[in-house]
Amino acid sequence: PIEERVKDLLAKMTLEEKAGQLNQLNGGAFTGPALNDAGQKAKMQMVRDGKVGTLLNVIGAAETKAIQTIAVEQSRLGIPLLFGYDVIHGYKTIFPIPLAEACSWDLSQIEKNASIAAREASSAGINWTFAPMCDISNDPRWGRVMEGVGEDPWYGGLVSAARVKGLQGNLDNNHILACVKHYAGYGAVESGREYNYVDVSRVALWNKYLPPYKAAVEAGAATVMNGFNVFEGVPVSGSKYLVTDVLKDKWGFKGFLVSDWASFGEMVTWGYAADGKDAALKAFKAGSMIDMESKIMGQFVPELVKEGKITMPELDEVVGRILYYKFKLGLFDKPYQYSDAKKEAATLFTAAHRKEALEAAKRSIILLKNNNNILPLKASPLKIGLVGYYAASKSDLFDFWIAQGDFKNAVTLQEGLGQVWGQSSISFSNGYNADATTTDALIGEAVKSAQSADVIVVNIGLSGKLAGEDRSLANPVIPQGQVELLKALKQTGKPIVAVVSAGRPLVLTQVEPLADAIVYSWILGTEGGNAMAAVLSGAYNPSAKTVISFPYAVGQIPVYYNHFNTGRPVQTDGQGNWFSRYRDIPREAYYPFGYGLSYTKFDYSNLQLSSPAISKGETLKVNVTVKNSGNFDGEEVVQLYIRDIASSIIRPVKELKGFQKVSLKKGESQTLTFELDNGKLSYFDEAGNTVLEPGKFSVFVGGNSRDVLESSFELK
Ligand code: IFM
Repeated sequence: PIEERVKDLLAKMTLEEKAGQLNQLNGGAFTGPALNDAGQKAKMQMVRDGKVGTLLNVIGAAETKAIQTIAVEQSRLGIPLLFGYDVIHGYKTIFPIPLAEACSWDLSQIEKNASIAAREASSAGINWTFAPMCDISNDPRWGRVMEGVGEDPWYGGLVSAARVKGLQGNLDNNHILACVKHYAGYGAVESGREYNYVDVSRVALWNKYLPPYKAAVEAGAATVMNGFNVFEGVPVSGSKYLVTDVLKDKWGFKGFLVSDWASFGEMVTWGYAADGKDAALKAFKAGSMIDMESKIMGQFVPELVKEGKITMPELDEVVGRILYYKFKLGLFDKPYQYSDAKKEAATLFTAAHRKEALEAAKRSIILLKNNNNILPLKASPLKIGLVGYYAASKSDLFDFWIAQGDFKNAVTLQEGLGQVWGQSSISFSNGYNADATTTDALIGEAVKSAQSADVIVVNIGLSGKLAGEDRSLANPVIPQGQVELLKALKQTGKPIVAVVSAGRPLVLTQVEPLADAIVYSWILGTEGGNAMAAVLSGAYNPSAKTVISFPYAVGQIPVYYNHFNTGRPVQTDGQGNWFSRYRDIPREAYYPFGYGLSYTKFDYSNLQLSSPAISKGETLKVNVTVKNSGNFDGEEVVQLYIRDIASSIIRPVKELKGFQKVSLKKGESQTLTFELDNGKLSYFDEAGNTVLEPGKFSVFVGGNSRDVLESSFELK
């Protein structure tokens, strides 16, 4: 058994070799021209000396094999390395950004996407990814909302678990280790500013932030990454409460942890540790393990053991966890199984993978507005006035986290429309510059070019390059130049379809009055243009629903559906004074959580509960009839929410507790049944215990979190 092999190996390792397993270095260009680079030579010597356990950013079958050979054949004990890499939404075939993908509400497609990413990455020598990101966030100013699961803790858990399953599978050599990040609470960075302070209560931690990490751990995630943030004044890498008490003891996590880039060392900068040695001790004692690039664990752990501050059994317990997964992946027996150049060539960017990327992209696009059913557009002949720099720019289609994706292979909106209607039916004009600013001349050209079209399709939003780590924005809005462009295009009197691309929900209040239809295309990856064309042409009837609220104005952020009632909620008739509201804008989101239109129409009726009251231990059944009353076949995400009316700790005005994505032919209706068991009616107290309290609950069912049918029942 693996446990025995781990024990035997530990018995042979020196203190320095054990500390080496806690040392992760950035490989970068380890081979090739960099071979002669003194820094790289020194790193390779460290591998040879058993002072490095894992590397990040070494990619490709050839490169990983070269380095693995040093570890396996030239180090004293031949302990293989793990190769970690940020495979966030695809390796070579790039899928929609995770936030967009989550809007598909299609867990099996999400799992499939992750498994394809794993298959490609594993063929290129990677056996560990730093994904999925499970951070709940209500803040579109934060550039990393693109990488997450949106604003709902329960749905976020389902998506995170699906991603873990897709990435890890059965941990054969077509799969890779997943890493749940950024544990914990990183999505609450104050003012949406990257690397900033976080202040959340334990009640919020347990009920809002922890559920997706927990679901991912329960799905079997092998590894977890510490965030950059603090919890209760302690950098999370040094938080014994989060790492040991919750993750290891309460949840029984048996895998290993890795810091975020230099986050152990940054405990000094935060003002929590006096120096590197103190930081290493504090991280270790909290239960944290691998040090990504602070270079303090490898350096100070041997000293700390000799001084008696860390015991050998403590160190063995941690190192044993890392070795366990090296054995589990088969690296001791087949160290080069991930580094097979032939397999790599046959696996990357295949037609089958692109087909799934297209499927995923179509399912991620949200239809936000469709006045007079101007979409889908007519079939050929149709003259399309396509406007917008991003519509023809391949590089802006990709975000920061694109692993080895090559933007030159990505399909633009211009190319996608050309595939459907023929390039000669499309006139194109930039309308604005690469940085989204514009000039009178550019606007004039755009108006001229679109003047003779039947319909104007204008691609606005933000470059994909503004989505990802270190891409916080104080103003997540449509750039003013693009608004001016829209105003000028509106003067033509032509119908306008705004296709909005961005890695976050932008404020769309200025766009809404100027566009007949709004299609939110996020950042869709390799097949983006084909997917957008499929939606605009009606070849695919949009079915996505947003998993993050669209703010009415920047000053309204954070705005989210699962907020609390306050003692003075806004009256539904909008009358009166002294309510929790704004005087200048509505209190609610512009487009609420769960919102998204279809080319057809779905009617909800007959909300019926199996009983007006249930006892503890019983499950309530909720039935609802959904009818496709429009003119197209379509898919609908039917959503069920509850509200716990009175409890020992106040609960949100709505909480998602169920959904079903159903496919209905036009005219077809279906009665769906949801089940509410005790688990769904419970919440966490501040110690993380599950609490189930008797009392009244409201039940809501609808096609988004705002427009719902309502009923109620009592838990006795
Ligand atoms: O995985 C990432 C993390 O999400 C942010 N900092 C860098 C890590 C490794 O690239």
